[in-house]
Order: sequence, then C-alpha cells, then structure tokens
Amino acid sequence: MEVFKTVDSVKRNLLNLDKKFSLALVPTMGALHQGHLSIVKRAKSENDFVIVSIFVNPTQFDKVEDLKKYPITLHQDLKLLEKLGCDLVFAPTADEIYNSNIISEKFDFNGLDKVMEGTHRKGHFDGVGTVVKKLFEIIKPNKAYFGEKDFQQLQIVNKLIEITNLSIQIVACEIYREKDGLAMSSRNTRLNKIQRKAAPLIYQTLLKSKELFLEKDINFIKKYIETEFKKEETLQLEYFEIADVKTLTPPTFIKESKKYRAFIAAFSGDIRLIDNIALN
Ligand code: PAJ
Repeated sequence: MEVFKTVDSVKRNLLNLDKKFSLALVPTMGALHQGHLSIVKRAKSENDFVIVSIFVNPTQFDKVEDLKKYPITLHQDLKLLEKLGCDLVFAPTADEIYNSNIISEKFDFNGLDKVMEGTHRKGHFDGVGTVVKKLFEIIKPNKAYFGEKDFQQLQIVNKLIEITNLSIQIVACEIYREKDGLAMSSRNTRLNKIQRKAAPLIYQTLLKSKELFLEKDINFIKKYIETEFKKEETLQLEYFEIADVKTLTPPTFIKESKKYRAFIAAFSGDIRLIDNIALN
C-alpha cells in the first residue's frame, strides 16, 4: 500500500495504472472505525484498485473547536487499511488541497443543503462539496463510495455529480452499527459510560418510527419520538424529521411510489450524534 501526501505525487502515480482498471475512491477524514472499514471492504470487492483519502477538511467545520478536537490517528488508520488490502492512501495537508486559500466554493444544491444538517451546521455542505469535488478532480475515480450514515451528504454528492457532469458512479453503503444498534462514529469514543448506555435510544426510536410509519401520520410520530427523548435526560433531541429521500423535505402526504427516511440528530452532552433509517 502506497501513501501519498501531495497532489502531484498521487496524480503521477495514477498515470501508471492500467486504463482498464476500475478505480474506486473512499473519501474519509480518518479516525477510521468499522463503519469506514466496511465501505473499504465493499469497494475492494467491487473494484481493481481502491484509494482511501484521509483529510480532515477545514471548510466543512462550522465550529473551530470541532475542527481542533477532531481525532487524528493516521498511523493506526494506515495499519487498518493495509490489512484490508487498500491499494493507495492519499493523505494531503490543507495547503496541498487549498493552496493556502482555505475557503469553500458556493454551490446551488437545489435546497438539499437547506434542511436538517444544513440548518444546524451553516456552510457545512459547501465545504463538503468543495473538498469532494477537488478529490474527484485529482483522483478521477470510476466509482466513489459514501455511507448512508450521512444520508444528506450522500444526496449532496449525488447532486454535485449532476452539477459538475463528472462521470463518477456514487455507491451508497449501508450504515454499520454496534451490536446494540448505535451507528458507528468516531464521536462514539468520546461518550462516557452513562452516555454510551443511553445512545442506542436513537436507533430504537428510528426503528419505532418505521413501525409507526405504516399506521400513523407524521405529526403523531414526531410527538411520540419527542416524548421518548424527554424521558432520557442524557440525550437532547435536536431534530427528528421524516423526509422524501430525493428532495429531503417533509412530505405533505405519503405516496407509495416514493421513498422516505427518518432522520435524527441528538446531543449527548456536547457530543452530536446523527442517524437515519429507511421507512419504506
Ligand atoms: P467521515 O466522517 O470520515 O466519513 C467517511 C465516510 O464513511 C462517509 O461516507 C460516511 O458516511 C461513512 N461512514 C461513517 N460512519 C459510518 C457508518 N457507521 N456506517 C457506514 N458508513 C459510515 O463524511 C466524511 O468523512 C466527510 O464529510 C468527507 C465525505 C470525507 C468529506 O470531507
């Protein structure tokens, strides 16, 4: 497994690849856990050559403290990726990616960035779009793999492909969970024992919302979920939304031909956790 830190070196190396190879990119910010690794495994089984990028992207953080606190575990990450047979790691510095001009491009994501995570994390998706576009232009993969854990991000990336006309297939990967249902996240390691014990409520209520979706209206489900969270003082619900998977907006009425998902963001102390589930 080769590791490159500069744009020039990774581009030069990729020129030597067999043109017939199917090239996959798995973008990450490092601090890798089983959720990330499940994506890398899938990419490996579906492609000839797998590149993982590790880059903590400054422009997608709306709070400087979050960026500063972001765990960096490069040595350990490289060991895990090597074990999985990852072919190449691209781990650039911010200067390499942004040429010392660390600002976001502004995108028109047709409203996908104006709901849920978009309203609670200002500028976040312009930052994601900026870095993902740059990575796509540098690596030029045939396929790029993203987790449904960040479902809104996944749809933003699909929109980015539409806007930029890049011919890259976006592959959506299932959410990888702990045994008790908690979605894997690098933030889970920051939960103390009490917080960790309470955190599976997020998935439990998502499952319950799926059950209720068949028989109750959205307002009823929202009230139910809010009540469940009020009973658990360790977790503060930031939002619970049911949305059309294409537009990410709440439906006025449910159509059988459309797909919907439920989304939760909740705080455990200052640790923000997100999760979502397919409802139909
Ligand atoms: P990061 O949070 O490191 O996540 C990298 C990829 O792993 C994303 O596609 C994310 O959805 C996926 N992922 C994380 N936890 C997962 C889980 N439990 N199950 C399945 N997939 C999971 O998302 C980012 O980085 C950044 O925004 C990035 C796209 C790299 C742009 O900077």
